[in-house]
Amino acid sequence: MRPAMPFRPALAASLVALAASACTEAPAGDARPPASPVARCINLSNALEAPREGDWGYRIETGHLDAIAAAGFDTVRLPVRVSAHAGAAPPYTIDPALLARLDTVIDAAFGAGLQVILDVHHYVELNEDPDTHEPRLEALWAQLAAHYAGAPEGLMFELINEPHSQMTVRRTDRLNRRLIDAIRETNPERWIVAGSAGWGTLDAWLKSDPPEGPGLLSTFHYYDPFAFTHQGAAFLDEPPPTGRSWGSEQDRAELERAMAKAAAKGAREGVPVFMGEFGVYREVPLDQRAAWTRAVRNAAERHGIGWCHWGFAADFRAYDAAEDAWIPPMLDALTGE
Ligand code: BGC
Repeated sequence: MRPAMPFRPALAASLVALAASACTEAPAGDARPPASPVARCINLSNALEAPREGDWGYRIETGHLDAIAAAGFDTVRLPVRVSAHAGAAPPYTIDPALLARLDTVIDAAFGAGLQVILDVHHYVELNEDPDTHEPRLEALWAQLAAHYAGAPEGLMFELINEPHSQMTVRRTDRLNRRLIDAIRETNPERWIVAGSAGWGTLDAWLKSDPPEGPGLLSTFHYYDPFAFTHQGAAFLDEPPPTGRSWGSEQDRAELERAMAKAAAKGAREGVPVFMGEFGVYREVPLDQRAAWTRAVRNAAERHGIGWCHWGFAADFRAYDAAEDAWIPPMLDALTGE
């Protein structure tokens, strides 16, 4: 890939500094993971992880990337259903049209001054039949790694989103290591984001053995309490009932404990920690969505954890694509004081 506009390395340096300074309020003595290369990020949800971009009502536009950068985010996470755009048999060739679209979006993000996390998302079959699909995922990553070997350092790779089912914590740990070793052959220094199984939850991640080494960022997702963040979520078979509110002392204490545990693990293992998804479904009253989002973001920052909101213009949105405008309480929760 030859990006039209190079990523600005100065930005990367300032972001590392921001990530390190974002947490100066943590109580003295608290365990702090190494600085994350991502401080404030938003997921470009429901675009390229749909079977085809647009199927779920959202397409990425250059103006959106400019709006994200202007609002103060440093990174976008780009979820992509690569598995739906590749051959079913060896050599599992990725459709060149997908790579061309990814190049365009990544170039536009770099042009806006953003870093990009390329995230292999919704590889549904892998979770049910890993014996068959792990080799295919390895082949997909070999192609992506070769294609982006010369890309600017602001491009990061995220190995696999939310493994679950047959993809156990141990199996995911082993797969992560194999993928990293293979990617390192063509991308010796690129940041690689690796998570755990159990749908990426903090609990599963706490049981995982994160790969160590330079350029590795360890990730979990945070949607707790699920009965609050996913109430009424139409995409679930059995959505939790609506009406659950959030913000009691107990709720806030639970959040604080969760982030402290995550930070302590990162510090112990010597890996930077990244909360790659957190958000609240759009049916929840806006003041409640904003209150939870602000509290989770602040808790992550206090503990030195980089974050990425789920997600820009989708079901958990902070931006109204029809109006071409941010939703003010959500933007303030994510970027305000
Ligand atoms: C899934 C989305 C879902 C979100 C919140 C993501 O990882 O891919 O489909 O909306 O988590 O549950």
